[in-house]
Formats: sequence, structure tokens, C-alpha cells
Amino acid sequence: MASQLSDNERWMMSFYRYSEITGALFFGRIAALVPAGQLQEDLTKHFADESMHSWYWTEAISELGYRPVSLRNAYQDAYLEAAGLPVNLMEILAITNVFEKRVIGQYSRHLRVPDLNPVIKKTIDRIVEDEKWHIQWINKALKSMADKYGDDTINKKLQKYKKADDEIYGKLLQENQERLQFLFNNTENAGEIRS
Ligand SMILES: [Fe+2]
Ligand SMILES: [Fe+2]
Repeated sequence: MASQLSDNERWMMSFYRYSEITGALFFGRIAALVPAGQLQEDLTKHFADESMHSWYWTEAISELGYRPVSLRNAYQDAYLEAAGLPVNLMEILAITNVFEKRVIGQYSRHLRVPDLNPVIKKTIDRIVEDEKWHIQWINKALKSMADKYGDDTINKKLQKYKKADDEIYGKLLQENQERLQFLFNNTENAGEIRS
């Protein structure tokens, strides 16, 4: 199918695809290790969702008549580098909470791009429904851990990961300024690109 997909959009879709695969692999490993219970159930669903998201992007790119661009570094890798490896389930959930919020923010920003390709819009709409649940279940699970770790410790972790997230996202924007400019070309998003 012929389309007017720009190189930047194609790169962005490939980035999303790669990022969703990395997320799926991350959650798959944890889901395989945790003992049976609600957490195992939610983590397994989360893993399955992220893997489906990577498929939706693969399908969308193909539907538009393209192939994914090859990428080496996922956003998540930079996270673990900046914030350090999480050492327990609480830290895994805290880092994921921050990351999932960033994902929803990024997809929402993309939805505001004028004249958005309908295939991209359809794919983001479909994914965002699942991403909302991801934030919900993680918040709930984090709350249930307050007795064990303490609210203060959990909040400090969240703040630490938020700081790392801001840095990594700022760096991503900086390194790919030209490529990502299209996300900021409308009035609503204008002025958001910084640092
Ligand atoms: Fe996802
Ligand atoms: Fe997610």
C-alpha cells in the first residue's frame, strides 16, 4: 500500500516496536520467576500486552508498505544504565511505573501531531488502552508493598527513577532532534522540546 510515511515516522514506529519488544522480554523474564499469585498473573498479562504491542507496530509498518528500521539501543537499556539495576520487585515496579507514564505521555503527544496517519492513530489508540491498565495495576501492587518497604522508601525510589527518566528522555530528544521535530510542530506541543 502506497503511503506518505516520512522517514521520521517510520523511524519512530520502528523505535516503538523495538521498545515494546524490549519491554516484553523484560516482563517475560520476571513473570517466569515470580511465585504463583496475583503478581504473577498481572506480570504475565503485562508481558503478553507488550509483546502484542510490538506486533501491532510490526503489522502497522507492514500495512503501510514498509519494513522496520533496524535499531540497536532501546530506551529501557538507557534506563537501567542511568538508574541502576533494580534489586527487588518493588524497585522493578517503581521503575516500571515511571517508564509506563513516559510511554503514555509519548503516545499521547504523538496523537496530537496534525494530519496523523490513520494507521499510526489506530495503533496508538489500541495500545494506550492497555498502557492505562499497566499503570493501574502497578500502582496497586506498589501500594500493597508499602507495609514491607515503607511509603517513604517507595516514594524516594519513584523520585530517583523520575529524575533518571527526565534525563534519558531529554537526551533522546537532543540526540534525535531533527528526527523528532515533527512531534513538536503543532502549537499544542510547541515549546516542549528542550535541553
Ligand atoms: Fe506497551
Ligand atoms: Fe506498557
